[in-house]
Amino acid sequence: MKKFFLWVLFICLLASAFGYILYRYNRMRAENQKYSAPTNINSIEIIDVNELESRAASVIPRGGFDYIAGGAETEQTLRRNISAFDEIDIVPRVLRGVDKPDLRTSVLGIDISLPVIIAPAAAHGLAHISAEAGTARAAAEVDTIMAISNYASSPLRDIAIAGGGAPQWFQLYLSKDDEFNREIVQQAEKLGMRAIVLTVDAPIGGNRFRDARNNFKFPLELPNVAKKSGDTKGQGISAIFAAAQNSFAFDTVQYVKSMTRLPIIVKGIQHPDDADVAIAAGADAIWVSNHGGRQLDGAPASIEVLPEIAARVNKRVPIIFDSGIRNGTHIFKAIAAGADVVAIGRPVIYALSLGGWMGVVSLFDYLKQDLSRVMTLAGAQTIQDIKNTQLRPKCMLVRCAEL
Ligand SMILES: Cc1cc2nc3c(=O)[nH]c(=O)nc-3n(C[C@H](O)[C@H](O)[C@H](O)COP(=O)(O)O)c2cc1C
Repeated sequence: MKKFFLWVLFICLLASAFGYILYRYNRMRAENQKYSAPTNINSIEIIDVNELESRAASVIPRGGFDYIAGGAETEQTLRRNISAFDEIDIVPRVLRGVDKPDLRTSVLGIDISLPVIIAPAAAHGLAHISAEAGTARAAAEVDTIMAISNYASSPLRDIAIAGGGAPQWFQLYLSKDDEFNREIVQQAEKLGMRAIVLTVDAPIGGNRFRDARNNFKFPLELPNVAKKSGDTKGQGISAIFAAAQNSFAFDTVQYVKSMTRLPIIVKGIQHPDDADVAIAAGADAIWVSNHGGRQLDGAPASIEVLPEIAARVNKRVPIIFDSGIRNGTHIFKAIAAGADVVAIGRPVIYALSLGGWMGVVSLFDYLKQDLSRVMTLAGAQTIQDIKNTQLRPKCMLVRCAEL
């Protein structure tokens, strides 16, 4: 009799466990099916790029929006990335005959129409149905470089085709699987990508409170890191980072360098000594960034560390800069503080959500006009003139005084 009851109990437990798994599975499927990214393609009107965030919040589903907009923990670094620009003034010059400034520049031998490129960002599909293919088309239209994330939601081939031969860089999160690393770098090379961006500031994911609160899981596939279909769908960012390498050093850069003929850009530098290490290990460019405040909360604003790094690099390699760029004065200040080009992350995704590729073109048209206006008012005819412009820190910190 006792045995019989134990069996009944065991079967009940098994049935409830099975029922629970089925319930979770169906809920997850329902969640995924519910995810509907915007589909419209249109130009957008922009007065202030900062406003794109709240406009995007009304069209991107909540989990996806928070994943994009959010930073680590209490988002101090995220906020500071933008507010620190207010601590620096541009000392304008006059009587220089500036007329219709020339925004063109080049980086690693690639000519671009303005000193602004697209930062690599995961899963553009969260913001628009066209995903990275839409962004790639916009980059080609405005004649700039798109850096494509390893964690893109479109297959690399589709993004390359949508770019129609426009310059693209491939951003690599190194996998623990050596064969996978070689395969994806070779694929990027074959598709005509012009550089490998090795991100080194994400040995693990930052602690993103918003994603934790939303229990955010990628509702879409990340096809370039999935071994088979369905692998990455429904996973959180920590699970995805778990497949990536968790430790980087001098020889990591050498390892990637040995895999390809393409230039290597090391992304996520925040200290002059690390810039030295990257360059000594073979980096062809460095990318000053704190990942848009998504990794270490409490790290300084990216613009605060730029002048010291630029002084140390001393033009040995180009410097790409990101985190917090939202308008022409930010672009101007970053270049005057030592960057060669700047990259933008979130604003591109917001613009994509509001108008697909045409929305992103509107954003770049806006930035071109805005930078041109700032250059005219500050007395800079060329990008080189911006580099020669004096900045004046408002704060009294020693670090700031070195600008
Ligand atoms: C939604 C999102 C996803 C990102 N994914 C990646 C990524 O896959 N690889 C990477 O190197 N950086 C990634 N980043 C960081 C960006 O490349 C860039 O450093 C950052 O967005 C710049 O800050 P901004 O958004 O203030 O312009 C991501 C940023 C965002 C907002």
